[in-house]
Amino acid sequence: MLDPSVNNRPDRFTKGSLAGPRVAWTTAACVVAALLSISVLVHAQARDVERRIDALLAQMTLEEKLGQLQQLDGQADGRYRDEHLELARKGLLGSTLNVRGAAQVNGLQRAAVEGSRLKIPLIFGFDVIHGYRTVFPIPLGEAASWDPASAERSASIAAAEARAAGVHWTFAPMVDIARDARWGRIAEGAGEDPYLGAAFARARVRGFQGDDYSQPDRVVACAKHWVAYGAAEGGRDYNTVDISERTLRTVYFPPFHAAVDAGVGTLMSAFNDLDGVPASANPFTLTQVLRKEWRFDGMVVSDYTSITELINHGLAADDADAGRHALQAGVDMEMVSRSYATHGARLLREQRVSQGAVDEAVRRVLRVKLRAGLFDRPYSDEARERTTIMRPEFRAAARTIAARSMVLLKNDGVLPFAPSVRTIAVIGPLASAPRDMMGNWTGDGRETDVVTVLEGIKAAVPPATTVLHAQGVAIDVKSLMSGGQNAAGLARAGIRQAVQAARRADAVVLVIGETGDMSGEAASRSSLDLPGRQLELAQAIIGAGRPTAVVLVNGRPLTIPWLAEHAAAILEAWFPGTEAGHAVADVIFGKVNPGGKLPVTFPRAAGQEPLYYNHKNTGRPADEKNKYTSKYLDVPWTPLFPFGHGLGYSTFKLTNLRLGATRVSADATIDVSLDVTNTGTRQGDEVVQLYVQDVAASVTRPVQELKGFERVTLQPGETRHVAFKLGTQELGFYDRNMQWVVEPGEFRVRVSNSSLGGLTGSFEVR
Ligand code: BGC
Repeated sequence: MLDPSVNNRPDRFTKGSLAGPRVAWTTAACVVAALLSISVLVHAQARDVERRIDALLAQMTLEEKLGQLQQLDGQADGRYRDEHLELARKGLLGSTLNVRGAAQVNGLQRAAVEGSRLKIPLIFGFDVIHGYRTVFPIPLGEAASWDPASAERSASIAAAEARAAGVHWTFAPMVDIARDARWGRIAEGAGEDPYLGAAFARARVRGFQGDDYSQPDRVVACAKHWVAYGAAEGGRDYNTVDISERTLRTVYFPPFHAAVDAGVGTLMSAFNDLDGVPASANPFTLTQVLRKEWRFDGMVVSDYTSITELINHGLAADDADAGRHALQAGVDMEMVSRSYATHGARLLREQRVSQGAVDEAVRRVLRVKLRAGLFDRPYSDEARERTTIMRPEFRAAARTIAARSMVLLKNDGVLPFAPSVRTIAVIGPLASAPRDMMGNWTGDGRETDVVTVLEGIKAAVPPATTVLHAQGVAIDVKSLMSGGQNAAGLARAGIRQAVQAARRADAVVLVIGETGDMSGEAASRSSLDLPGRQLELAQAIIGAGRPTAVVLVNGRPLTIPWLAEHAAAILEAWFPGTEAGHAVADVIFGKVNPGGKLPVTFPRAAGQEPLYYNHKNTGRPADEKNKYTSKYLDVPWTPLFPFGHGLGYSTFKLTNLRLGATRVSADATIDVSLDVTNTGTRQGDEVVQLYVQDVAASVTRPVQELKGFERVTLQPGETRHVAFKLGTQELGFYDRNMQWVVEPGEFRVRVSNSSLGGLTGSFEVR
């Protein structure tokens, strides 16, 4: 059955055209004719691709076939290795990762295309996660924009730069749902929610691939990590995952399904164990769901050595056995480990893998290479590379998108600062930290391109303004193990200096958080507190009594209860990318009115994790007055900042919630609409959010689920009508037989500007 839980429709539905019926019919006829001819062309192209694959398969030796399934790693600086040249000439290499730059790519490609017997081009992959050279905010930050169009734009710029530098294939988007902020890779995805995650997955696939990923400014995308990698026990990276099929289908699959529906060319099989069958050897997820239910016909690449790691998992007895498990389950290309290439022939001889499985894997690899246009245009244009990288309009987009991604968590009115402030102090370990602004994945980003917060603020203020700077304390990933306590003496001196700077200033910007390498892969934390002595620094600076705005730079929710209580303003900037400093200054001085919202819940304490807004109610929902309810003795059960929260310099009012009906049938669609008014004095953005609850069902349902959102920009006093539709995709769930159903009963609806509060209504499904 096709999974209808994925909403393929746009996130907003507008009313139909007002044009007359004749115009409408003529237009409709033209559209149908155009669609028919496109469909004929697409089918002809697909047939041609399959014919070319058949012809190649007929000529390939077994060794050459296994060679196509092998991907090897280049050098960190983008160069290929001597061994790659040798293998490419023999036709025994399918792909590399990390080799990049048009000249490097062309050098190695020539060996494959001119040196090998069948002239099959290599496909060059690279982790272009949030930018190639122009670095955009981390994906979690972009998701905080609640503006999929921004993510599509940044992915399309990343694609243009990457393709110009010879990269055909990005290992992105990462679409893992992450409900536990201890997991460092929460930074790489769109956060905790499947609906928001699906919207961003679609947008990023579209941005990378466009309609046709053979185009010179597009790359093949790779949805990863298939699947449920983010559900690692204890938030510890690579750890075991054991969750139900219902949770998989309801929470973890939707962004992947959205990516597949958007035409993603490839997927990556994850590192984790999944209910006893590791994801890189799991026939249920790799074949049953992906190929049979979703009809995905692209290729699956393993994660880095995840095939050989099947031995450590305790699934495979040895490397050959690991290859057998992965290939038979549906992993087509092997990243870095070499079990297919080394043992494939023997496995076939011993009939432990089938010829059909090998041929099918090769077919999928060749299909992606053909669709990427590599047989027709294997080389990259070095001149084009020079003119494409870091165009001014790319930097401008990075600045706009970074500012759109920022979330104003708190503001008692201190922000925005007047740009004419006489003396401003920019304090903190991340105030002048170019490398950290790019986060963990930096693509080909250079720290020399980065505008730091200090530089951005200097550029934004008039020449007469004095800008003071003090680092205060240092933070360093290595000191996490000792809680940053090792530098106590140094810290006291640094804090003293910083306080002196703060006292001399009329306004203070305190830039604290995590270094770039404190989130991302293999960067799990047991504490979500500000690392090192930053809290002490913050307490001293805020204690100095000057108007202070805290700017947080980090890749995950942090536990900041003291700041939430005592700081006058907190701006969550994530890792903003190349244009970090300009974007922070734009928001701090009010050139941009912040409009981002949290795509993840901020807990009060790490012990609350996993903490997410769309949880179940339990039989004993938390109740302050009743001890025997689901809560903690030592911390409130509620979040510090809820999912969907975010302020701005304007205020908004939601009114006139209207439901199209009070009773509908199970297959009907119900309209939900409301008005949103800017009640402030500045132009600003609000994100209107629609949440739904199925009150009683044959399988327990979450207390609320996001089912629609729209970011609107309104002038002071302006009102906008916002409309959503709720149909079977939004109201259904997997029943006890794993069938998608909409059951009769009461549904509650809430429209709000966060996952708390707002206007409520209800209707009944008969
Ligand atoms: C990561 C992937 C990444 C791959 C290639 C792995 O360690 O899990 O996300 O795409 O390396 O760099």
